[in-house]
Amino acid sequence: MKITVVGAGHVGATLAQRIVDQELANELILIDIVEGLPQGKGLDMWESAPISGSDCFVRGTNDYRDTQDSDIVVITAGLPRKPGMSREDLLAKNVEIVKSVTEQAARFSPNSIIIVVSNPLDAMAWTALKVSGFEPHRVMGMAGILDTARYRSFIAMELNVSTRDIQALVLGGHGDAMVPLPRYTMVGGIPLTELLPRERIDAIVERTRKGGAEIVNYLKTGSAYYAPSAAVAEMVEAIVRDKKRILPCAAYLRGEYGFEDIYLGVPIKLGQKGVEQIFELQLTEEEKEALHQSAEGVKNTVAQIKL
Ligand code: LAC
Repeated sequence: MKITVVGAGHVGATLAQRIVDQELANELILIDIVEGLPQGKGLDMWESAPISGSDCFVRGTNDYRDTQDSDIVVITAGLPRKPGMSREDLLAKNVEIVKSVTEQAARFSPNSIIIVVSNPLDAMAWTALKVSGFEPHRVMGMAGILDTARYRSFIAMELNVSTRDIQALVLGGHGDAMVPLPRYTMVGGIPLTELLPRERIDAIVERTRKGGAEIVNYLKTGSAYYAPSAAVAEMVEAIVRDKKRILPCAAYLRGEYGFEDIYLGVPIKLGQKGVEQIFELQLTEEEKEALHQSAEGVKNTVAQIKL
């Protein structure tokens, strides 16, 4: 198993460290355009392997030839947000970056699975699909696991219960209009709606929607990376170990939920082949309306892309 992580910034490097620690590959390539950065971080990580007991060999590079025949390529390259910016404000710059990265990655690893992390997430996943020419089940975006993790972490704090016992689902685009689903949120099998009053749930949903911006406002110079990298690692593990996990991810829709030619966060079955199944849920009118609004935002962003 060979994995390439594109981008040696905070998300890419933290993800790479998680892949090494969890020994999710035999070989990990960390690639970046900045000379020395991936080499230095990669070597430092490899030097941690004897301590963690990992045999996942890490190498940093600036040359795509080193990524040849990767099984998974994770694209984290791109600019992060600064306070006051929306993810959509990154579109023009990140489209160029994701386009050029995808061209190179697809050329050297034509059979790989691509996981996109760059923002605006759903539009960047769409870009990677179109540029790579891969089948849609091999191109996906990470957002739903992160958004769901934020939602679950806030619920755990509110109820003072274990994070492990909270199962939840967030649908839609990775933006402020994302759609957390309290009806599909369980705490040790108990519906959340029986444990918290509506106004507390609404407040948690609102904090989840703005969860990315909350971190950006603290950090000021960039966006979150511990939770985002943990979310990607969960996806990588599902693929590498063919776990057939049911996880919310940005998947390419062809009629599901009534949408065509768009990436949106939906529950999928994730295994060795990539997106092995997309699950369609019964939604209430209110939930459908929220999902439509979120999809409208994604469509408007994608409409501005010229490849
Ligand atoms: C976030 C950014 C990375 O949600 O999209 O933290």
